[in-house]
Amino acid sequence: MNIVSPPASLGRIDVRNLGIRFQTKAGSIDAVNDVSIHVQPGEFVSLIGPSGCGKSTLLNVVAGFLEPTSGQAMLDGQTIRGPGSDRGVVFQQYSLFPWMTVRKNVEFGLKLKGFSASERETQARTLLGLAGLLSFENHYPDQLSGGMKQRVGIVRALATSPQVLLMDEPFGALDSQTRVVMQEILTNMWQRLRISVLFITHDIEEAVFLSDRIYVMTARPGRIKSEIVVPLPRPRTPEMTATPQFVQLVRTIKTLIREESLAAMGGELCDGGLGGLSTEVGPQGVAHLV
Ligand SMILES: Nc1ncnc2c1ncn2[C@@H]1O[C@H](COP(=O)(O)OP(=O)(O)OP(=O)(O)O)[C@@H](O)[C@H]1O
Ligand SMILES: [Mg+2]
Repeated sequence: MNIVSPPASLGRIDVRNLGIRFQTKAGSIDAVNDVSIHVQPGEFVSLIGPSGCGKSTLLNVVAGFLEPTSGQAMLDGQTIRGPGSDRGVVFQQYSLFPWMTVRKNVEFGLKLKGFSASERETQARTLLGLAGLLSFENHYPDQLSGGMKQRVGIVRALATSPQVLLMDEPFGALDSQTRVVMQEILTNMWQRLRISVLFITHDIEEAVFLSDRIYVMTARPGRIKSEIVVPLPRPRTPEMTATPQFVQLVRTIKTLIREESLAAMGGELCDGGLGGLSTEVGPQGVAHLV
């Protein structure tokens, strides 16, 4: 029995008219507003947008860590009401148990689900092999590099055969060389497993390289500004990053993000920055000043 991959027809995410409002001492904050997105079974979708626009908030709703203020999030037609083993989550910070070996870390979720020792070992070793980590199965996390730890984190999130993988800037803490290698490993693993991925990144090249589609969000309160289909063929290879099609997509998204980052910074600049310099910020925003 192949216990690595979930059924191919599962893993559809539907977020409809989602709103999240946080109550703070200083008042309420609308983090996201009327956001509708979807991820088809087996699709790789990225969310990209300026800092603070609500990307993590949105992902946390899909993970089941946070309840919507309005609207809803669904997985395969069922409203998401909490975390579940049908969704694996990977954050920027490594979250491995330091007292367990690499393999025991990967087996942890399978143990909770009642898999036998031999099933756990088979599943863990298969996935560690896909991630190029089999020879490190008996190492402890502090004996690994940052890139390796994050690879173990991905393998651990995949161990229970989730339908969906949710990744919040998983490579954000890595140096640029390691990051590129991790992108290749992830795209190869995804190509093999074909599970749905919702991926957050600030790195536009990374989003284009990995994704089938990209949602670009506005500054807070985050809404969907654009939806971009990435028509590059699969499997993706590093050489594609030099093609005119790739370069043009990156340029288009860069322009969209820049508009939003300026909009986000505009408020701060009016409040203290440019205001202090007696600079008028006219109706055209701050774009003409930078
Ligand atoms: N628990 C909370 N309580 C109050 N405000 C919050 C809470 N979590 C997030 N926020 C606010 O909601 C907004 C969106 O935050 P979020 O972390 O989702 O942004 P983000 O797009 O992930 O940003 P970044 O790219 O910097 O990670 C921010 O203004 C943030 O300060
Ligand atoms: Mg975030």
